[in-house]
Amino acid sequence: MTAPPLNPALFHLDKEHLWVMHCSEGPVPRATLRVVRSFMLKELRPWEVCWEEDFQGIPAALRAEAAALLGGRAEDISLSPSTSTGLVTVAQGFSWVPGDEVLAPLGEFPSNAWPWLALKARGVTFREVPLWTGHRAGAEAWSSLPPTAEADPEARLIAALGPRTRVLAVSWVRFQDGLKLDLQRLGKACRERGVHLVVDGIQAAGTVPVELTDLSAFATGGHKGLLAPQGMGFLWTEAGFRQSLSPSGTWLSVEQATDFSRPSTDFARAWLPDGRVLEPGGPNLLQASALLESLRLLNGAGVAAIATHAAGLQARLLDALEGTTWAAEGRRLRRLLMAGRLGSFLAFHHGGAGADHLQTLLQTGYQRGIFTSVREGYLRVAFHGFHTEADVDRIATWLHGSAS
Ligand SMILES: Cc1ncc(COP(=O)(O)O)c(C=O)c1O
Repeated sequence: MTAPPLNPALFHLDKEHLWVMHCSEGPVPRATLRVVRSFMLKELRPWEVCWEEDFQGIPAALRAEAAALLGGRAEDISLSPSTSTGLVTVAQGFSWVPGDEVLAPLGEFPSNAWPWLALKARGVTFREVPLWTGHRAGAEAWSSLPPTAEADPEARLIAALGPRTRVLAVSWVRFQDGLKLDLQRLGKACRERGVHLVVDGIQAAGTVPVELTDLSAFATGGHKGLLAPQGMGFLWTEAGFRQSLSPSGTWLSVEQATDFSRPSTDFARAWLPDGRVLEPGGPNLLQASALLESLRLLNGAGVAAIATHAAGLQARLLDALEGTTWAAEGRRLRRLLMAGRLGSFLAFHHGGAGADHLQTLLQTGYQRGIFTSVREGYLRVAFHGFHTEADVDRIATWLHGSAS
């Protein structure tokens, strides 16, 4: 057995809780709890909370760690409470003209739909593009066919870019079917057409290495693959694109904001050129210290190693399903995996069995201490850097005993 890149002992998980659902909520490492606890202890004695080390130091360290995770620059990171707030910042700050259009794949997680739909009163339309034949969403989501390796979702999106399209907004890995889009291919096509590629990255951040070339923005919350509690994430923006957005307009979005030798009421100040210009104001130090610790752990292990490990576990599970009622679904996913089309979770399609069937299956998993999740017709099994081959074999045994 190969050692997982993240030692399972770093987490508070036990035999009763095989947590394969970081696609919903990631487990927080024990070290993150320790850091948060010690910061709260400092807050009991406010004279111990230091301006440079804490108020400025924690957010700065978090921006640097987030940049390291993305392979980008710290000055392009804005701390942001969630994926939604990152996308809302872009949507609200963009210089729209009535008639502009935002294009998105059909069936995005709502955090990548409502920020754009909210622009209707400003004359901006939101258009969804089906990604494969038989792809359905909304009220028809359960009747959708699942994606296959033969589909070419990027080609459909690129063909749909129109003269009024200003933004292509996509999830890197989709929340229900787990399909991973080729951001490089989309980014290149967008750049050639003067369109901005804006990415909801939460379903792959921390478990898949990213390449930021040709992206305009990348938003993620910290509570899934990034292994932090809900409430702190980050937004990466390309420098030129960031300058085209309206600033958030907080007291910390301007130059020398914390230089109290200069009167704070002197408003003849320039907006900051870096990512702080888009931050929501005074930093949430508790949440920032939590995400910082979790990112240190992830960067220490290496996202590439985590991705390879998770893919190995996925292959093992899919192979183990040969000869069972899940075999055909296992082969569909195996082909997607081989084609580099999956993030860190396997989404098993209900195959016509319906919602109740998956809910029942989910419950039988809970009874065995196996925690998976169901979304829009798919049972999601998410592997991370701390899962083991023994975990996979336990899941395979559970699925063997169930009908697909
Ligand atoms: C693709 C995707 N985007 C965003 C989110 C969560 O958004 P937020 O960070 O705003 O809570 C989820 C959570 O399920 C998701 O699957």
